[in-house]
Amino acid sequence: MNPQGIREKDQRDPKHHVVIFDTTLRDGEQSPGCSMNLEEKLKVARVLQELGVDVIEAGFPIASHGDFEAVSAVAKEIKTASVAGLARASRKDIDRAWEALKGAVRPRIHTFLSTSPLHMKHKLRMQPEEVHQAVIDSVTYARSLCEDVEWSPEDGSRSEHDFLCRTVESAIKAGARTINIPDTVGYAIPNQFGELIAMLMNRVPNIDQAIISVHCHNDLGLAVANSLAAVQAGARQVECTINGIGERAGNAALEEIVMALRTRHDALPYWTGVNTRMIARASHLVSTITGFSVQPNKAIVGANAFAHEAGIHQDGVLKHAETYEIMTPDSVGFTRSKLVMGKHSGRHAFREKLKELGFPDLGDNAIEDAFQRFKALADRKKDVFDEDLVALVDDTVMRENDRVRFQSLMVVAGSKGPQTAELELEIDGQPHRTKASGNGPVDATFNAIKALFPHEAKLQLFQVHAVTAGTDAQAEVTVRLEENGKTVNGQGADADTLVAACRAYLHALNKLLLKRDRTAPQVMTV
Ligand code: KIV
Ligand code: ZN
Repeated sequence: MNPQGIREKDQRDPKHHVVIFDTTLRDGEQSPGCSMNLEEKLKVARVLQELGVDVIEAGFPIASHGDFEAVSAVAKEIKTASVAGLARASRKDIDRAWEALKGAVRPRIHTFLSTSPLHMKHKLRMQPEEVHQAVIDSVTYARSLCEDVEWSPEDGSRSEHDFLCRTVESAIKAGARTINIPDTVGYAIPNQFGELIAMLMNRVPNIDQAIISVHCHNDLGLAVANSLAAVQAGARQVECTINGIGERAGNAALEEIVMALRTRHDALPYWTGVNTRMIARASHLVSTITGFSVQPNKAIVGANAFAHEAGIHQDGVLKHAETYEIMTPDSVGFTRSKLVMGKHSGRHAFREKLKELGFPDLGDNAIEDAFQRFKALADRKKDVFDEDLVALVDDTVMRENDRVRFQSLMVVAGSKGPQTAELELEIDGQPHRTKASGNGPVDATFNAIKALFPHEAKLQLFQVHAVTAGTDAQAEVTVRLEENGKTVNGQGADADTLVAACRAYLHALNKLLLKRDRTAPQVMTV
């Protein structure tokens, strides 16, 4: 990579390259109910690397021990992308971020401080001059540790222009290579936000010594539009998250930014290094891990994004795809209509298929477990699609370190009651079996889990969706459990909805057991 972060082999105009800074693991993870454990963060980071993002913001190291560990683990593992850690404008924060990032091939310290009158007065309780000095001190200090420093004026879109220009100029002078302008509260509208970026490009004398970045929140549903307006005005880094997850209404969605730039290259002549065929895989993994399912009509990655229901549209698409399709499902990694594997497929083909689907290096044990489950599924389900394999492998891999494991389930359901569940679990390597009843088969199943492994966690969310079409489709279930203020999401996939529900509950329970020994990430205020 050269200093602008462009891979050497890229021949496209470097002036039009847009750096993709993914903050799924930091801002995305900050949204309530979205927290991920270390193994999950590593899985997401690996997929982001495959996706080809330029920067992975892996967390906020001072926020908690768990955040520190996660940034440190991602920093050690990721080789082709820069890894960023967030820090407030204090030496303690910056030291902690640097400590976590040390193992990275391309570490980046991202430090921030609010510059809007509202934030300075009410949140920071600091005078503008004090803020200005703190910006210089923090960026200078970060630069003494790390070559690649990004600075963000928090609430930048509501900051006074003169003050914003002054702090940006000083941050660049102090050594910041990237200046990121956040629309922290999602207040901006596209033409004004574009004008703000143009104003900075025109007025800050040393602006050519840094890359201008933008970080837009989606409170008015304008995060992507604002980011694109900023790119047109000169921004060359966009901060975004997979599926647009993030604080409140979320952040700009990576997949929408990337596909807008690619599909409308005529009007937006900019490019990114993202391998768009990995988008569907990344989207599925993030929604599986966080339990935040993707709305069906979500652009690019929603289940209906490429579905044509109206007869007139179907007719048009069959005659010529471009009549109603502005991009192909293939281009974002949906291979929906392909029947990929059957019950006669062997281990070798299975392994190759997993690589193609973006699971490059699963361990032998995980592959063997997934292969056995694939065989069982192929026996029961007529057609096994790519989506089935992705759901099944995600489900298998997530269970590798579980203390409480699913063995078998037999449920009696129906209108005549009582509904009962006969459940067998393996707990710490020992088999346990029980029978329980409940108000419906799901309640009976969850009561059986509680009888075998007593706990106080409360069920907060139970969500089912079909992986593919058809009555024999696999169900993917998300369960959210809460215990002493800590929430976790669990996922399960199976052709039997109740087995999927049981697996999802156990997944969440195992995560809670892990959490009991760890500190939860705290909400940070400056
Ligand atoms: O939204 C925001 O302002 C942020 C900053 C820390 C960049 O997330
Ligand atoms: Zn943010």
